[in-house]
Amino acid sequence: MKLAVIGTGYVGLVLGACFAETGNDVICVDKDKKKIGLLNRGKIPIYEPGLEEIVRRNRAEKRLSFVTSLADAVKKSDVVFIAVGTPTGEDGSADLKYVLAAAKEIGQSMNGYKVIVDKSTVPAGTAAKVREVIKKETRYPFSVVSNPEFLKQGAAVEDTLKPDRVVIGADDERAAKIMTDLHSPYTRTGAPIMVMDTTSAEIAKYAANAMLATRISFMNEMANVCERFGADVDQVRRAIASDRRIGSAFLFPGIGYGGSCFPKDVKAIIRFAADKKYRFRVLEAVEQVNDLQKHRLLERLDKHFGKSLRGKTIALWGLAFKPRTDDMREAPAIPIIKGILARGGKVRAFDPAAKDVAKRIFGSKITYASNAYDAVKGADALMVVTEWNEFREPDFGRVKRLMKQPILFDGRNIFNPRQIRDAGFTYTSIGRS
Ligand SMILES: NC(=O)c1ccc[n+]([C@@H]2O[C@H](COP(=O)([O-])OP(=O)(O)OC[C@H]3O[C@@H](n4cnc5c(N)ncnc54)[C@H](O)[C@@H]3O)[C@@H](O)[C@H]2O)c1
Repeated sequence: MKLAVIGTGYVGLVLGACFAETGNDVICVDKDKKKIGLLNRGKIPIYEPGLEEIVRRNRAEKRLSFVTSLADAVKKSDVVFIAVGTPTGEDGSADLKYVLAAAKEIGQSMNGYKVIVDKSTVPAGTAAKVREVIKKETRYPFSVVSNPEFLKQGAAVEDTLKPDRVVIGADDERAAKIMTDLHSPYTRTGAPIMVMDTTSAEIAKYAANAMLATRISFMNEMANVCERFGADVDQVRRAIASDRRIGSAFLFPGIGYGGSCFPKDVKAIIRFAADKKYRFRVLEAVEQVNDLQKHRLLERLDKHFGKSLRGKTIALWGLAFKPRTDDMREAPAIPIIKGILARGGKVRAFDPAAKDVAKRIFGSKITYASNAYDAVKGADALMVVTEWNEFREPDFGRVKRLMKQPILFDGRNIFNPRQIRDAGFTYTSIGRS
């Protein structure tokens, strides 16, 4: 099929490359000329495992191209995906200005029947708005489909090539058939393709993220209770995770969820429920718990060093909001670094992928170490902020020798408390006595 993907961010670029991988002709569009320039020179603007290889292969096979002209891409395509950002607006709602601007331009560029797909995460009722915008611009027939994306950053290529399920919100059969055919190569192992109305598809995406965020906040609250009783939240987690009604995913306590999706999607669902005069109390609490949890490591610092960190250096392992990505949107590292700087302390940070992104946020306010050991040189405390695999088995003797004081705050529970204390560290983690 001939496809256009508008927006070459974490979702659009992966989607375009994966559709090209199964033989489709894909034109990826972005209004960001720098990004398109990089992609046309064979460079990938984001860190995503496995992506570079499939982009390179499909560019070389001429199935994947990168352009800045949305009109050209739309004219040459039968299916057009909108994969632009939907950031949080001032009132907490998902801001649809990029989606609707793209829809307007698509409408102006139509030259025959096309399926227009909302890939971006958009509130209930957006497909109808997109339809209205396009209808004002064109006399050609078209269908609007909601096809939410469930990929995880860090495993985005695999999730796209082998999804758990594909949700297609389509209000007409022609579009549903085109979308089903397009996705069938990815569902050979039996993953279901679920066809439903557009609004249910839109809400399904929010429901998935809201449920996962709820599990995280629930476990963070559970960890805080365990701490007060001297219990071990890891044991509690193991006990409930083996219950098939509950399962094991997203039950790890830590220092809060971040990223470009959970925080904004939880806010958006609260907002669009409120538009219908419904107060989503559970999600209000999920959000409050998460905001508090992002400050847990700072509370630990205060307890240990008092309110001033003057003359102290704090080492950070991890900056990205989760491992295997360079994304720092809403990352717990941001309030933590700001808190340390506000208390007069210095930060030496290392992240395997997010250094350049962090430099755009903090510039020369912090020091960027070249590896995990370099980060702890002369540090008064080490904080584990992101659970990258390479942090899990360090040479603790070397870490201790390099640090000024062997104090370790583990925000992701990646170490065994007894082992660390035996190695001579003062150690605290989340919800484990
Ligand atoms: N990042 C994720 O893990 C993830 C997962 C599932 C769903 N989503 C959703 O997918 C959407 C995109 O997310 P993302 O993380 O890829 O965003 P992103 O900010 O990384 O990328 C969006 C891209 O769209 C481009 N853009 C905006 N308006 C444009 C226009 N009119 N024409 C051409 N390009 C335009 C921007 O320049 C940018 O490069 C969001 O709604 C998000 O909630 C994201």
